[in-house]
Amino acid sequence: MERTLVIVKPDAFEKGATGKIVDRFLSEGFKVRAMKLFRFTREQAEGFYAVHRERSFFKELVEFMTSGPVVAMVLEGENAVRRVREIIGPTDSEEARRVAPSSIRALFGTDKGKNAVHASDSTESASYEIPFIFSQLEIV
Ligand code: RTP
Ligand code: MG
Repeated sequence: MERTLVIVKPDAFEKGATGKIVDRFLSEGFKVRAMKLFRFTREQAEGFYAVHRERSFFKELVEFMTSGPVVAMVLEGENAVRRVREIIGPTDSEEARRVAPSSIRALFGTDKGKNAVHASDSTESASYEIPFIFSQLEIV
């Protein structure tokens, strides 16, 4: 069974949308294998998003991800990476409202930067991101 990492980002946490987001994944049939609430330090956020280090939006992304608490979780299910990406919708929340109105980003995101959730974009990314956030003992 495949595993993926989801993070409820600071904007969605601040809005109190965490419960609704978790419930959506449960109702889509995923099992929660790990979950925690924390706040990224700058160094941690830079490391987590290291693939984007050279991108123009990197500084803005790190500032956003460290702006408040987040809730990270490991979700398990068949084709979890691809299915979770479908459920969250496109990166830009405004585009999500046009093309995927029931997606999580359409419902809870604001724009391209403040887009409510992170999800691993490949099994390779999941293999980096899950142990970045969770120790073996925290995953059931
Ligand atoms: P994520 O990694 O958070 O799941 O998002 P994603 O795969 O859909 O998008 P990605 O290209 O990996 O970008 C990572 C995050 O950076 C912010 N971003 N801002 N202002 C911009 O043009 C811009 N582009 C990306 C978003 O928060 C995006 O989710
Ligand atoms: Mg990404």
